[in-house]
Amino acid sequence: MPGDFENAERTTLVEPHDPWVIDHRYRIVRPLGEGGMGVVYEAIQLSVDRSVAIKLLRGDDNETTRRRLLREVRLLTQLHHPNIVDVLDGGQTDSGAVFLVMERVAGTTLAERLVAERMAWRDACDVAVQLCDALAASHARGIVHRDLKPGNIMIVDEPTRGVHVKVLDFGIAKPIQAARSSFDTQAGMIVGTPHYMAPEAIGGELDPRSDLYALGCVVYEMIAGQAPFGHVGLEAILWHQMREPPPPLPAETPPALAALIYALLAKDPAHRPASADDVRDALLSILVPPPALTLDPRPPRVARRTSFALPLLLFAMMLAAFVVTLECGR
Ligand SMILES: Nc1ncnc2c1ncn2[C@@H]1O[C@H](COP(=O)(O)OP(=O)(O)OP(=O)(O)O)[C@@H](O)[C@H]1O
Ligand SMILES: [Mg+2]
Repeated sequence: MPGDFENAERTTLVEPHDPWVIDHRYRIVRPLGEGGMGVVYEAIQLSVDRSVAIKLLRGDDNETTRRRLLREVRLLTQLHHPNIVDVLDGGQTDSGAVFLVMERVAGTTLAERLVAERMAWRDACDVAVQLCDALAASHARGIVHRDLKPGNIMIVDEPTRGVHVKVLDFGIAKPIQAARSSFDTQAGMIVGTPHYMAPEAIGGELDPRSDLYALGCVVYEMIAGQAPFGHVGLEAILWHQMREPPPPLPAETPPALAALIYALLAKDPAHRPASADDVRDALLSILVPPPALTLDPRPPRVARRTSFALPLLLFAMMLAAFVVTLECGR
């Protein structure tokens, strides 16, 4: 029985007050990364001896961050998609610590990748298509991510199929139906990351098209090497997000892709593509390879040409022999 197995593991493997064992079940191995709200560790799920990722709040946690992490557990539980990190478990320990257990993604964040170099536009489109799939699945469940950015996107290299994308961090994600008055949209409080924030999100509106704006910022950054509005200082960034057009993309960007990115970055959500699915379709049409050569599948036919080369050669040789004979006979 699985339950008995788990209990047997607990009594044999877990020391009662080991601070590196969470909820008697997960042993912390090493940190994997951290964000503003929490630290993510690699851990071993003791009952089945598998590697997982566990997100814990920083030491300075408070009621708001605890509620956020619990909400992330709840929202992620509703989302099962190949391009969204899979939640395995989560809740609150006896001592009140909140935790979220996820599949461990064996890759690097897009932010780490972009430190090294910007991406070729085709590779950027490949990542963007998968981001669209993740957003479409999330929006179909009525959930707006609200913090799509390179630090919340993981890239896994897969030898056979190129890169595989996983969207992380639904810490400030929100159901579209949520009451506007909930705790993290109190007056004057900006929720999200300014470099990727749509104008209407700055104003506190909850709209799935804000995720499309963030997607536009991310695709822009993959291709240009920096976010469209990489200005220093919160006020300057927010001003540019609300008022200024993005600087031109690199010249080698295909015009159709540049037009799509600029449409995603429209200040007015009504001028953006209507859905993540529409963006995906547009990206795929840009990615379509040139038509393949039309080759004939039948074996080649050998042309039966009449060749005059051999008779001519024989005739020339006979003529030469005749001339030589004549010369000798003189
Ligand atoms: N499932 C996972 N597998 C591997 N690494 C992960 C996983 N989840 C998160 N990480 C790493 O931990 C980092 C922080 O995770 P996450 O973004 O969820 O935390 P956060 O505190 O909510 O961040 P933010 O500052 O965006 O609010 C990520 O950037 C990534 O490097
Ligand atoms: Mg994060």
